[in-house]
Amino acid sequence: MKPRFAAIILAAGEGTRLKSATPKVLHEIAGSPMIRYVIEALQPLEPAETIVVIGPDMDVVDRVVWPATTIIQSPPRGTGDAVRIARAALADRLAQGDIADILVLFGDTPLLRTETIARLLDAPEGSRAAAVTVSGFRPADPAPYGRLVLGPDGTLLRIVEARDAGAEERVIGLCNGGIMRLSARHAFPLVDRIGNDNAKREFYLTDIVALARSEALSCRVVELPADEVLGVNTRAELAQAEALMQDRLRRRAMDEGATLIAPETVFLCTDTRLGRDVVVEPNVVFGPGVTVADNVLIRSFSHLEGAEIASGAIVGPFARLRPGAVLEEDVHVGNFVEVKASRLGAGVKASHLSYLGDSDIGAGSNIGAGTITCNYDGFNKFRTTIGERAFIGSNTALVAPVTVGDDAYVATGSVVTSDVPADALTIARAPQVDKPGRAPELRARLRGDKGREEND
Ligand code: UD1
Ligand code: MG
Repeated sequence: MKPRFAAIILAAGEGTRLKSATPKVLHEIAGSPMIRYVIEALQPLEPAETIVVIGPDMDVVDRVVWPATTIIQSPPRGTGDAVRIARAALADRLAQGDIADILVLFGDTPLLRTETIARLLDAPEGSRAAAVTVSGFRPADPAPYGRLVLGPDGTLLRIVEARDAGAEERVIGLCNGGIMRLSARHAFPLVDRIGNDNAKREFYLTDIVALARSEALSCRVVELPADEVLGVNTRAELAQAEALMQDRLRRRAMDEGATLIAPETVFLCTDTRLGRDVVVEPNVVFGPGVTVADNVLIRSFSHLEGAEIASGAIVGPFARLRPGAVLEEDVHVGNFVEVKASRLGAGVKASHLSYLGDSDIGAGSNIGAGTITCNYDGFNKFRTTIGERAFIGSNTALVAPVTVGDDAYVATGSVVTSDVPADALTIARAPQVDKPGRAPELRARLRGDKGREEND
């Protein structure tokens, strides 16, 4: 059996450089908190245990990382201190002796893939294993990263943090990617020896390399792709990580058979699912929770979240689908139509300028331009139910709770306040009054001409 590993994800840092009230690891990338990506990338590798080190007042992180165990580092005093704190949560496991390695990851490197983590774990095991295996990478700009100092024979001697690096170390292009594998036997005794004699007065995990070397333990570097170990510390890096993730998601959607006419203008979430032969026109935003079946056309400038779309549907241009929107087969939702918590049965057409909220609309119904479901009285929300094959004339207000029966016909401009029976023609508007020839008189009066009676 393959020796098991325990993962420690460091997430207690305050993320000072983001200048945010939200903990860094909860900042979202493609609709998901960045730490979720780390947890999910780990899952297929089946860690024996996953411990997330969080800071004080980070209860929300606790929910986001479930089912991983969290442990609080208070106050955050550096990455080395964070690993030391995590030991308490692993004590039982370590005592059982079935954990060979400790894998340390950072909650702020969301682009790491499972295969890449596996490369670190696949490095030699047992007696041939290094006490410390560090991930190296060559970023375009090494400025903020710890530098890997190698000896003449290429072995890793130590890691120098950017702030503590001298001129000759700052030119090193090989940097610390953050993810690190420690042999369980050596990890904590070494971590205990880490001090804080450095520019930030922090306990740097990176000092573990020099400490291991001082005990003649071997340290190795496994070089990883730079775009996977990007650390998100600033808003600019957050945007950079978002862009890289969007590229991945667009590629996945296209690999699965969707056409994105201008992929760089389509924004996806990590859980967006597009079927085969879906066509997405330029400038479409998919928020969380959107599932699109095969053969759907999503036209330009549409914004979708929490929506389920069945095959044959046409959405947009300029459509807005909000959570709970369910479009069955061949539904057409056109420009400036907003759908929320509503089910539109097969073949329903709502082609222009409507708000359909909290409603159930039966198959084959036609919703005229400007139809509004008036679902909210300022305090409570109510549902509108429309049967099959109903025709709702333009500019109709459906004052919920209200039901329109199958095959009913609601006249244009109606304000529907009570239920409409099946097959009825309902006209709920003020009748038209024509007063022949009165327009000139009206104009004269409005102009203020003399000699006119003021009242009819
Ligand atoms: C760290 C590394 C650096 C590496 C870079 C890669 C150290 C000392 N430096 O720098 O060598 O090149 O990552 O991205 O390790 N954290 C805690 N508790 C703390 C401090 C931090 O849990 O007390 C967590 C943070 O939430 C974060 C991670 O550890 O997820 C890394 O901390 P961060 O401050 O981002 O370190 P860097 O300066 O990026
Ligand atoms: Mg960082």
